[in-house]
Amino acid sequence: MPLSLAQMRRNYTLYGLRDDLVQDDPLVLFGQWLEQARKTEVAPVEANSMALATVDAQGRAHCRILLLKGFGAEGFTFFGHYQSAKGQELASNPSAAMTFFWPGLERQVRIEGTVVRLAPQLSDDYFHSRPLASQVGAWASPQSQPLAHRAELEGRLRDVTQRFAGQQPPRPPEWGGYCLQPERVEFWQGRADRLHDRLDYRRHDGIWQRSRLAP
Ligand SMILES: Cc1cc2nc3c(=O)[nH]c(=O)nc-3n(C[C@H](O)[C@H](O)[C@H](O)COP(=O)(O)O)c2cc1C
Repeated sequence: MPLSLAQMRRNYTLYGLRDDLVQDDPLVLFGQWLEQARKTEVAPVEANSMALATVDAQGRAHCRILLLKGFGAEGFTFFGHYQSAKGQELASNPSAAMTFFWPGLERQVRIEGTVVRLAPQLSDDYFHSRPLASQVGAWASPQSQPLAHRAELEGRLRDVTQRFAGQQPPRPPEWGGYCLQPERVEFWQGRADRLHDRLDYRRHDGIWQRSRLAP
């Protein structure tokens, strides 16, 4: 008999989103929630991990977990290989969505918008702030390309380690950052009896407009 999950549910009672206390700027509220998540979540969950959804040239959706590396007025930044599957999808369709889930806080944030590449200097700065092994690893791994076996990856790592011995590797030209410029941000706060709070921010002519959605 297949496993049934029909009775798996939780009542959410930790927090609420009161109309008179919410922020006009979703980035301020996001910052508060991320900070609380950083303090609340326990290893191995990373508070800055999120699901990033992209769409390929055939209109098929793809989703994977990434780490958010910064956010601000300009948008939400993340890093990876420009020739990876996600990189190619973003090159053909820059629309993307990211979703954060912080179960310890009974919260979700959904962000939708348009993705642009970060300026090369910003990608350089972040690349060189990473541990040396991660920098070398970025050279060794042609992200999302097939490997014959693990030994191939390990061999590539040996080669680049030798190539860059005693020197700081430059950023690979096909590795770098992206910035998702938000057009919509939705905050979801679990509440009792499935009467959850949902606040939907949409940007029109540079101004955020807020509405409450039914759960
Ligand atoms: C917790 C976690 C964090 C990750 N962080 C990143 C990241 O910041 N950048 C990245 O390119 N891949 C990251 N990955 C790997 C991606 O999920 C994915 O495997 C990779 O980006 C290739 O995806 P693609 O083939 O769709 O391009 C992470 C995976 C996990 C589980």
